[in-house]
Amino acid sequence: MAAERGRSGTRNVGVGIIGWGTIGCGVIRLLREDADRLAERLGARVELRGVADLDHDRRREVRVPRSLLTRDARALIADPAIDVVVELMGGLEPARRFVLEALAAGKAVVTANKALLAHHGREIFAAAERANVGFGFEASVGGGIPIIRTLREALGSDTHRAVFGIVNGTSNFILSTMAAEGRGFAEVLAEAQRAGLAEADPTYDVDGIDAAHKLALLAQLAFGVALPLDAVHAEGIRRIDAIDMEYAREFGFAIKLLALARDHGGEIEARVQPAMIPATDPLASVNGAFNAICLQSAALGRTLYYGQGAGMMPTATAVVADVLDVARDRMRGGPRLPPLGYPLAHQRRARVRPTGALSAEYYLRIAVRDVPGVLGAIAGHLGRAGVSIASVVQRAGRVGKGVPVVIRTHAAPEKDLRRALARVAALETVLEPPVAIRIENTSG
Ligand code: HSE
Repeated sequence: MAAERGRSGTRNVGVGIIGWGTIGCGVIRLLREDADRLAERLGARVELRGVADLDHDRRREVRVPRSLLTRDARALIADPAIDVVVELMGGLEPARRFVLEALAAGKAVVTANKALLAHHGREIFAAAERANVGFGFEASVGGGIPIIRTLREALGSDTHRAVFGIVNGTSNFILSTMAAEGRGFAEVLAEAQRAGLAEADPTYDVDGIDAAHKLALLAQLAFGVALPLDAVHAEGIRRIDAIDMEYAREFGFAIKLLALARDHGGEIEARVQPAMIPATDPLASVNGAFNAICLQSAALGRTLYYGQGAGMMPTATAVVADVLDVARDRMRGGPRLPPLGYPLAHQRRARVRPTGALSAEYYLRIAVRDVPGVLGAIAGHLGRAGVSIASVVQRAGRVGKGVPVVIRTHAAPEKDLRRALARVAALETVLEPPVAIRIENTSG
């Protein structure tokens, strides 16, 4: 079958998919419904020749003939009729092993697996370069937004200073629903889980881990550096409360889970944190499960990429675009570009700027017992750590166990703020660890 020739005389392309989940269904649907259009673009037909998944019985949105189904991913990889292996199973192992086996067998590989690439990217990119085959991972960041291609190709001409934005749809859905409806985190998360918008185990999404995986990839592409995952500082959104949304609005901000990497002349800052950003910043209007990524580049200036960052069909468009690309590479006899857009041997080791060294203004919310002297004690700890207070608000009303005191600080190094907050948290009159949200200067 692999030797069949298309109308143009070019060998048709055999695709095997590992992982018959939501994205797999979208890819199968696109390959089927758009088969003629894809063949016209490529000059060869893209044929689904195998689907590997352990579960053949669960009901899915898209059916697959029994003859194409297998439980044996390794048999699919070894099948000579399959030219392109699409890994959509997720997770680290056995996905890593399958991807490396496929590359070693000379197959082109397409994956949506950001966790895999954030943890094992170096090994996998090196294997793809060694095998001299196409390797696509557009779907791993921003779903259907072509940000990998943009960094790898379109803007390969420019020097990027910063890449930042909203790269986790689940947490953005939760935060924007909280802001719009004045509801708490736990309630909105539970509703999103019931509606299938958030995973039963939401850890990766709401604790900033998924966004950190994506940021590690974006920084490698943008700055040409190796960025190990543990160099990306990750914080999530669990402690954000509806009252923080109200104060943010009052101060002229929106709260977003911001992933940000900046190149300070060879020293890289990379962090995922809930942040207050100006309500006038375009990122503040990115709501629901949408993603948006902003690039700050030396020659081009600022560009913004916006669209659906997750979901079956948006993500499938990215996967199928990669299938077309790696199929073209195959017809050409080798990839046009290395996986990262530059040879791995040219990748520099990143010097990482510790988050403690970064200065910012902060919004603090501290739940206190409403007794005399509490404000003075808090102000004392902040002052002794060198953190200057810009304003204090205390209104009637309770949040959780106490009365909220809201403080805005002037710019201070994060390590000084953390030192002060550890002391504040230890006060007998302070009822919960303080919530600290960085006020981000997104125009800088
Ligand atoms: N869990 C991810 C999100 C899916 O919520 O954005 C796409 O990577």
